[in-house]
Amino acid sequence: MIHIKSSREIELMRETGALAAKTLTYIEGQLEIGMTTEDVDALCHDFMVSHGATPATLNYNGFPKSCCTSLNHVICHGIPSPKDKLKDGDILNIDVTTILNGFHGDTNKTFYIGDVAPETKKLVEVTYDCMMAGIEVCRPGAQLGDIGAAIQELAESNGYSVVRDYCGHGIGREFHEDPQVVHYGKKGTGVEMREGMTFTIEPMINMGKHHTKLLNDGWTVITKDKKLSAQFEHTILITAEGFEILTLDPDA
Ligand code: MF3
Ligand code: CO
Ligand code: CO
Repeated sequence: MIHIKSSREIELMRETGALAAKTLTYIEGQLEIGMTTEDVDALCHDFMVSHGATPATLNYNGFPKSCCTSLNHVICHGIPSPKDKLKDGDILNIDVTTILNGFHGDTNKTFYIGDVAPETKKLVEVTYDCMMAGIEVCRPGAQLGDIGAAIQELAESNGYSVVRDYCGHGIGREFHEDPQVVHYGKKGTGVEMREGMTFTIEPMINMGKHHTKLLNDGWTVITKDKKLSAQFEHTILITAEGFEILTLDPDA
């Protein structure tokens, strides 16, 4: 069942979304070569808690940390660790989800650590453009397949592949609500968008093939071919006119 948000619920979604975005802005300002992904987690945890929020990932189905940190060929759900030190040339995705006043705000970005190779930067830039291409088709009456089609077209025309095993999702009082938002597919198919829906768009784009492998920790998802993967995520609202991005930092 897809929950259509009331105007009061939308207000609360805006607040939690803005805080999630501010969390990423804050962490970005602190990222440095040599710090560990556990350090990133501590920054994330303290920022959320000091702003009255709960980190949604902490203890979510047993996930042990307050954000996901996915380095290089890690696609998603990387677990922050004192063993993973940031190196010059790495790309690091940080995925944060706040719970504020009972509502979830979910966003992620892929950051450059030091000097990143041009071909790696291109993957990251195209991935951002894929997320935005998916967002820009959103409006009442459009269909979820339109999102996937826009993303797949842009990714594949650049020689990349779209991860199929993980997708975006409805979001609100629950972290993961209906509908599922897949990042590939056909225009004119799937659930019709309606004003008041809130969901994430979070394409994971691989330099090589789309296949994934789950590590033995039960969480970390890597590319099967060990090539690089990038991701960006926003939580959006369907409005009468089109869409509103709920996870923009109003001060950034
Ligand atoms: N934030 C992720 C998403 O975009 C979900 C992380 S769940 C966790 O849906 F348990 F891995 F943290
Ligand atoms: Co999400
Ligand atoms: Co997320």
